[in-house]
Amino acid sequence: MEIKKVGVVGCGLMGAGITQVCAQSGYQVVVSEINDELLNKGRALINSVLTRGVDKGRLSQQDKDATLSRIKGTTDTKDFSDCDLMVEAAIESMDLKKKIFAELDKICPKHTILASNTSCLSIIDMAMVTSRPDKVLGLHFFNPVPVMGLVEIVRTITTSDETLATSKTFSQSLGKAIVIAQDTPGFIVNRLFIPYELNAIRMLEAGIASREDIDTGMKLGMNHPMGPLTLLDFVGLDTVFFIANAMYEEFRDPQYAPPPLLRKMVTAGWLGRKSGKGFYEYK
Ligand code: 3HC
Repeated sequence: MEIKKVGVVGCGLMGAGITQVCAQSGYQVVVSEINDELLNKGRALINSVLTRGVDKGRLSQQDKDATLSRIKGTTDTKDFSDCDLMVEAAIESMDLKKKIFAELDKICPKHTILASNTSCLSIIDMAMVTSRPDKVLGLHFFNPVPVMGLVEIVRTITTSDETLATSKTFSQSLGKAIVIAQDTPGFIVNRLFIPYELNAIRMLEAGIASREDIDTGMKLGMNHPMGPLTLLDFVGLDTVFFIANAMYEEFRDPQYAPPPLLRKMVTAGWLGRKSGKGFYEYK
């Protein structure tokens, strides 16, 4: 099946990035938000990233304008009625995601693939509220979407070979490499990433090293672009806390149990860059 029009549910950080890369790759994109304020915020984010691309000479003004012209923002989910592929990038709540999938199943044509960008939740639970579990899978993008080169494709026990093949071709057409994972909490990347992040917090809690030395150690010693605590601030402490809890609930394996310091910081509202304070402070 050929994908021509893509729908994106949610225009937050991930939804905006997914919208941008799809539009830049030539797809018509409809992106939704729950109100005009959030929609405008998402569109402003896309505009600023594209403008930076023009300023840096990576993108022509013409390409920027063409990309923006392919994006339609909406607060009405009926506008998804002619999309060939949907990517849900709403907040991480299974109840909400099930509601969205049930609604998309009613609105979208029978051929439409329904994908979730969830970082850890069970895709089969979303598939089973639809009448097309063979056309449901995970397409997990990474932040910042325009920069990160990977899409993790999550196949459930009901995803058809055809849905998988179309999704592979689509993800590669965005210039991304793909990996295929089973539908299990954390898939490939977060299954390894979350214990790594939690261990960095445990190391800080245990007083083994300062936050700076933990970060410098991994940044320069392992050639990572960011140390683990800087990366935690970047991803959001609440996000990592949510994923860790979801993984611990499923596996009951202590390596996924959030350390007390993470819970305390989330309770205090120290969520990282987005709140101005996490392991470091941000102006
Ligand atoms: N959108 C688009 N482009 C962006 C961007 C954004 N939000 N943030 C940075 N960039 C681009 C910049 O434009 C810049 O390109 P340019 O120099 O050509 O203009 C380039 O990325 C480098 O940016 P900076 O010079 O500002 O800063 P850095 O060199 O420190 O790079 C970074 C920033 C790309 C974020 C880099 O530090 C990095 O790769 N960090 C690790 C990110 C990571 O691990 N992400 C995965 C998180 S886990 C996840 O998403 C899974 C989820 O389930 C939890």
